Amino acid sequence: MICDNISTANGHLLFGGRDTVELAGKYGTPLYLMDERRVRRNCRVYKENMDKHFSSALPLYASKALSCKRLYEIVAQEGLGTDVVSPGELYLAKEAGFPMEKVFFHGNAKTDADIAFAMDCGVGFFIIDNMDELRAVDRLAGERGIRQKALLRLTPGIDPHTFEAVATGKVDSKFGVPIETGQAMDFVAAALELAHVDLRGIHAHVGSQVFDSAVFYDTADIMLSFIADLKRELGYEASMLNLGGGYGVRYTESDPAVDIGQELAAVAAHIREGSRRLGIQEPMILMEPGRSIVADAGMTLYTVQSTKTIPGYRSYAAVDGGMTDNPRYALYRSAYTIYLANKMGEKADFVCTVGGRCCESGDMIQENVALPTPQRGDILAVCTTGAYNYSMASNYNSIPRPPIVMLDGERDYVAVRRETFADLGAREV
Ligand code: LLP
Repeated sequence: MICDNISTANGHLLFGGRDTVELAGKYGTPLYLMDERRVRRNCRVYKENMDKHFSSALPLYASKALSCKRLYEIVAQEGLGTDVVSPGELYLAKEAGFPMEKVFFHGNAKTDADIAFAMDCGVGFFIIDNMDELRAVDRLAGERGIRQKALLRLTPGIDPHTFEAVATGKVDSKFGVPIETGQAMDFVAAALELAHVDLRGIHAHVGSQVFDSAVFYDTADIMLSFIADLKRELGYEASMLNLGGGYGVRYTESDPAVDIGQELAAVAAHIREGSRRLGIQEPMILMEPGRSIVADAGMTLYTVQSTKTIPGYRSYAAVDGGMTDNPRYALYRSAYTIYLANKMGEKADFVCTVGGRCCESGDMIQENVALPTPQRGDILAVCTTGAYNYSMASNYNSIPRPPIVMLDGERDYVAVRRETFADLGAREV
């Protein structure tokens, strides 16, 4: 099985030890399932290993991967901080009682209203993306008589070898200020001049779904030597270094399984050695894992509605969800592992495209999937959907979004209820 929280019993697929066919019957489909124990386990892998291997460190859950109040509660209980990228995420974190001092506020186009809202919520840190935002943060903090703690977002000029839409650390990026062009030095110098910005360090994120350890080492090297440059040229020693998103996850058998604990230990040794060599204080290390906290804790269940075979072309299986609950194949051609949950014992010899219910041909969950021949009413399970599915869902075609049901051993409960038709019209005046 693609992940060890997935198994089979009596021809049925189990997730988090629970019969997915029964859960589909109880809650209806499409249905997002989240394995709470897996979320907690993933949080602990980062928390425990970062505590153990770095002199000082804190993992921040990148909540763009899945933002809902229950997740913020769980993550807070596990002792992580969180990264929010919008006032909406910040609002949900606050509603969930997330400790505001451990919230880091990202975004490359924060409005004055966003900045004011975050300050009034008492957000811990701003991650300031650009010079315009820097001035706005100083002004709005000044109006409130505070010094706002902040990191500056820099681009280290690294190609992370992932797909283009999620590669963010290259010099040519809409995010951050490049080191290579000399602009990052001016950015830091400007921040140090401001009375209402309390600069604590620097941030870089090079990309998502990264498996190559060298990417993390290279990022750390560039950032540490920039910290050394800052010390030499400006007399400023950054006390925090944020290395951005976490490790890649396994969507299919061909993806490697990353031993995150081992990777973190190696990165920590690398940073210790680099800091010593450069003669700088070892900074507190922050990381922002999103995908690797929630992806494999999620599964989506659908009901098959129809199948067809076009001779000489291909076969299709149509399900009762689609790009509205999972736009990742339509957007990025993302790979997934798919099972027919009520026919696990049967031979998977029907190769098909799993299509959604939306009115466009690009609405596909996956192509070239081998399943036992599906029939109307069968339950189709897409694995590893905990990250960037619910958080990227839409109401295209006025399709209500599925609920999130949490699994906690024998217990299952609704964290987010299913959207209703009434919800669809609720904002219309
Ligand atoms: N920090 C920053 C500044 C980020 O931009 C991201 C992801 C993360 C942390 C979290 O990275 P992770 O640990 O999840 O790899 N919608 C795309 C992914 C976009 C990622 C954007 N930034 C997808 O569905 O694959």
